[in-house]
Amino acid sequence: MAACDMSCCDGNFDKKSGCEEKTTRVLEGCIPLPLPDEMISEIVPKAKDYALLHGAGMRFKDTYNPDILQMAPFFLLPSAFPRREFDRVVKLQPLINILMHRIAHDHDFLESSLKNTIRVDDFTAKLWNIYLTVREEGVSQWVSLGMFRCDYFYCVPCQSAQQVEINTIASSFGALASRTGLTHRYVLGELRKPELLDHIPENNALAELCGGMISAWEVYGNKKAVIMFVIEDVTYNICDQRFHEYEIRRQRPDIHVIRQNLTQISKNGKLTDDKRLIIDGDEIAVVYFRAGYEPGQYHSEREWEARLTIERSKAIKSPSIQYHLAGTKKVQQEVARLGVLKRFLSEAEADLVGQLFTGLYSLDMGPEGDAAIQMAMENPDRFVLKPQREGGGNNMYGDEIKEFLEKVKDTPAREAYILMDKIRPPLQYNYLVRGGTEVKLSEVVSELGIFGVLIGNEKEIILNKFAGHMLRTKLSSANEGGVAAGFGALDSVFLFD
Ligand SMILES: Nc1ncnc2c1ncn2[C@@H]1O[C@H](COP(=O)(O)OP(=O)(O)OP(=O)(O)O)[C@@H](O)[C@H]1O
Ligand SMILES: [Mg+2]
Repeated sequence: MAACDMSCCDGNFDKKSGCEEKTTRVLEGCIPLPLPDEMISEIVPKAKDYALLHGAGMRFKDTYNPDILQMAPFFLLPSAFPRREFDRVVKLQPLINILMHRIAHDHDFLESSLKNTIRVDDFTAKLWNIYLTVREEGVSQWVSLGMFRCDYFYCVPCQSAQQVEINTIASSFGALASRTGLTHRYVLGELRKPELLDHIPENNALAELCGGMISAWEVYGNKKAVIMFVIEDVTYNICDQRFHEYEIRRQRPDIHVIRQNLTQISKNGKLTDDKRLIIDGDEIAVVYFRAGYEPGQYHSEREWEARLTIERSKAIKSPSIQYHLAGTKKVQQEVARLGVLKRFLSEAEADLVGQLFTGLYSLDMGPEGDAAIQMAMENPDRFVLKPQREGGGNNMYGDEIKEFLEKVKDTPAREAYILMDKIRPPLQYNYLVRGGTEVKLSEVVSELGIFGVLIGNEKEIILNKFAGHMLRTKLSSANEGGVAAGFGALDSVFLFD
């Protein structure tokens, strides 16, 4: 199934798993490093100003002030990514969009994949119940809007891109990614390296994602209806979100966007008899969830009621509840089983997509799960243990995996998790630019995100396209690359052959 013949990457359960930790490779940067100190002192303030003046900002929890924007952390130079693999995943994105769409519409597959998980994972169970309720009542809107982001590392042992996961909800950084590419173009220009600009691929993520929302709004077919962003109580990644709003306005000045959190929707939202969703008098054509992917965003039953109200409605949702479920880690693990892709794709297509998967293992009760647990406990450094959560910071690594599995291994609680081979990306060097810290050369790894947009119902796909990319880079010592947490930062792609 997989392109490489390394046992670590073929997803075959019986073989030795996990990539060899020793296998590392250092990629050459776009320019020789380190840069002389004088050059750093000159370029960093220029790069910071460029980033800030082009809106690459955020707010942070510990210094929150609605009147102030801070610079989103970024890397000074674009990071190397192999062109062949970049082109490959870009080309495959429409197929992955279709795959996610078909998974989301395969009730039997969703049910069999999630049946154990929902017994032990309350959050997924609540999403599942909404899905079932709406299904039993009769779905009012069969058209979904997919705004996906597929994340990849380039895997050194396999020499190919390997998928970390597919996000179907709140796929963020489409806007800031485009800004970071601009910052890097400026930096290379200031460093008098204009000949390198061709290595930074064009990135239209913001325009394409917003174009997707606008197309969905057109499909809905009411010129007076608005687009609603479902937001957190406090939005830290505010620039990324606002740029989506402004881009919609730029492309279509006649379309209005409103922003509401789930608590507000529970108070302000109602359904008409014909299932139109009305918020404060506005009819909602499209719902874009930038929140609702983690339990903490549902403070009480009221927020769950709000989610149900949205799902019951005629509004086109990104994601619809079935798309949300299709994006759970458990479903992705079940899809990566040998042969399962052929349920959704032709043999040739399944072959191409299967090459992107690394080993994923079920921890469900039974001999298969027992074997996976034993394998993880013997070699925890070769794996990542994942719960059914989004937003980063939830996975376990190394000894933590061992300790945790020791506690849950004999109980169904383990069924809330999946196990995944740890992908070994190449190392490279870059300068992390972050407010309040010294800029120094660090060893880093980069994760590529490919955006895709799809609009369709069970029978028909109306729109399906690749929609830009993003690169997040983190210190090689960090397990996860959370940008707000300060381990990861925005970056852009420097393609090399
Ligand atoms: N198989 C893997 N090998 C190596 N690192 C991994 C792997 N899976 C996850 N990671 C690291 O953990 C991070 C978070 O994992 P993942 O994307 O699965 O979780 P998430 O909570 O859905 O994150 P996000 O907010 O990016 O959607 C990844 O960005 C990556 O840095
Ligand atoms: Mg995710």
